Amino acid sequence: MADKKRILVTSALPYANGPLHLGHLAGAYLTADLYVRYKRLVGDDVVYICGSDEHGVPITIAAEKEGVSPQDIVDRYHEMNKKVFEDFGISFDYYGRTSSKMHHETSQEIFLKLHGKSFFKKKTEQQLYDAKFNMFLPDRYVKGTCPNCGYTEAYGDQCENCGASLSPTELINPVSALSGEVPELKETEHWYMPLGEIQPKLEQWLNTREGWKANVMGQVKSWLNDGLSDRAATRDLSWGVPVPLDEAKGKVLYVWFDAPIGYISATKEWAIENGNPDAWKNYWQDEETELYHFIGKDNIVFHCIMFPIVLMEHGDYVLPKNVPANEFLNLEGKKLSTSRGWAVWLHEYLEDFEPDLLRYALGSTLPENKDSDFSWKDFQARVNNELAAVLGNFVNRSLTFTDKFADGKVPELINPSKIDSGALQAIIDQKEKVTTAYEAFRFKEAIAESINLARVGNKYFTETEPWKTRNENPQACNNTLHVSLQICAALSVLMEPVLPSSMKKLRDQLGIASEINWNTISDSMLTSNTKVDVGEVLFNKVENSEIDKQIQKLEERAAANNPASKFPELKDNIEFGDFMKLDLRAGEILSAEKIEKSDKLLKLQVDLGIEKRIIVSGIAKHVEMDSLKGQKVCVVANLAPKKLMGVESQGMILMAEDSEGNLKFAETTAEPGSPIT
Ligand code: MF3
Ligand code: ZN
Repeated sequence: MADKKRILVTSALPYANGPLHLGHLAGAYLTADLYVRYKRLVGDDVVYICGSDEHGVPITIAAEKEGVSPQDIVDRYHEMNKKVFEDFGISFDYYGRTSSKMHHETSQEIFLKLHGKSFFKKKTEQQLYDAKFNMFLPDRYVKGTCPNCGYTEAYGDQCENCGASLSPTELINPVSALSGEVPELKETEHWYMPLGEIQPKLEQWLNTREGWKANVMGQVKSWLNDGLSDRAATRDLSWGVPVPLDEAKGKVLYVWFDAPIGYISATKEWAIENGNPDAWKNYWQDEETELYHFIGKDNIVFHCIMFPIVLMEHGDYVLPKNVPANEFLNLEGKKLSTSRGWAVWLHEYLEDFEPDLLRYALGSTLPENKDSDFSWKDFQARVNNELAAVLGNFVNRSLTFTDKFADGKVPELINPSKIDSGALQAIIDQKEKVTTAYEAFRFKEAIAESINLARVGNKYFTETEPWKTRNENPQACNNTLHVSLQICAALSVLMEPVLPSSMKKLRDQLGIASEINWNTISDSMLTSNTKVDVGEVLFNKVENSEIDKQIQKLEERAAANNPASKFPELKDNIEFGDFMKLDLRAGEILSAEKIEKSDKLLKLQVDLGIEKRIIVSGIAKHVEMDSLKGQKVCVVANLAPKKLMGVESQGMILMAEDSEGNLKFAETTAEPGSPIT
């Protein structure tokens, strides 16, 4: 084996301002966890760091919305998010938080060191100010029209429509997110990072990076082509890490200055927790360490440009070897949006399904190089057609057969046929392919090539027909079982990164000890005569009804968040002539009676001016009987008569159905008989 590498992996610190959803998992966490689990199996010295990003406007705005303190918000979501990551098997070595003392100290130290090196440019500038709230309006505290694309809901720091990074004063028609009023301009002082000046040095460093994904380098190049400009490292806010300068009282560090430093402070806390307080230095200050940042694409500029510049200018830290950022995940063909309720919350997912199923389904459709889509139907298909029908089925038939016909023990392999040897060779081949894919951050491919080994296994099992050979040629049957079980054993390690809890179960069934590693994946992991256990099936099929329930939940929440969609979509246009075929008339209800044996239908006598009609209407549950006499209504007068519960109905009364399903009369003040056109 090659030398043991020292690897530090980070996943973007999620804001502790709300629960986590599918998009988070697909962006920065699942991929990192796959990588980390793979690297640990390889035997490298890996530390995996994450934590809560607890500063910045996203936090204070969430607090203001709920009328609680920012501390309340971060305490709540830090715990909740930490737990949901654990439940999904995201195997951080440490999950820190940026409100910790260690983090405040570390960020202040780094700021001061840079300040001592005259890194920052102090500037006095006019900034947007909300006079009503006595507050400057940085970042998301202002909304307005994007100068780049004209989107009217752009934020002071970024336009979510075109991705442009903005400063509040660039917004056209800015409005305070606090008071809703037009902000004033007021003078203030800030410390700026002169990114433009460092650009040549940064480019030199970037040129030495190898194996970066095209989507990441592409975005970085486009920032560089536009030319970097100064970016403030401080803010006029009260929530955050105080700027450690006397002349900066009341100011805090810009959240994107302090948050990435959170990786460092969390590593320090990890080291203390592990009884070796200096151990963090091996990971951050030793050139041998490979640092990888896993993030979503909206974080690229910070991790590939801003943070490297900070580390570079500081001088004591390693820079990332790679930043394998993912693109965005869409949901059922639409952009994920928490504000519009278009999201699948991870804690809710766990109420209905096992974490491994999502790890696999999401892992198979990761937005690695371009945006991708998660749909519940695809989830179901992945679980049923791949996990259950391929992997689970192969394992199950191998174990059941062994149990029934080989005494529950791994039979010996004697005089293997060509096809037996071919199947064993597939273990080696697939391991090779999966390894290559993991090394190149091609996680979808790693997962696909992993389960392909189970496909090979299934095909092999079917082709060698052990149900026949067990009578005709018992050794051939034994060989099939031996080879199949070896494939199962290889799978139980090969698929560990994506399916940690199911593969643990499988290893228990196969009697594989808990100490596993990538090198043990071979065609002879199991010794003959070892006892195996059939155990329970690894994956159950997901029923249509379970999927329908999820889709319905999604749609209901989206509807609740978007009043415009509470009502059905408009029907297709019709010709005027079609409309003119309807004879609509004003009418007045003369009397009403219940129809026997029906709790819905009423028999109404309606005055249509020219004649009286009997109309049967399904409104019993929606109206008060006493109030019906004299009610003015609109009637479809030329609807062909129809018998309902034995009574002939001679027309239809128009009702409107509101968003809760209540029926209300479409009323008219016109004299009965008047045509409605
Ligand atoms: N909280 C940020 C987000 O959700 C990510 C911060 S990553 C860090 O977009 F590096 F700054 F920590
Ligand atoms: Zn825009």
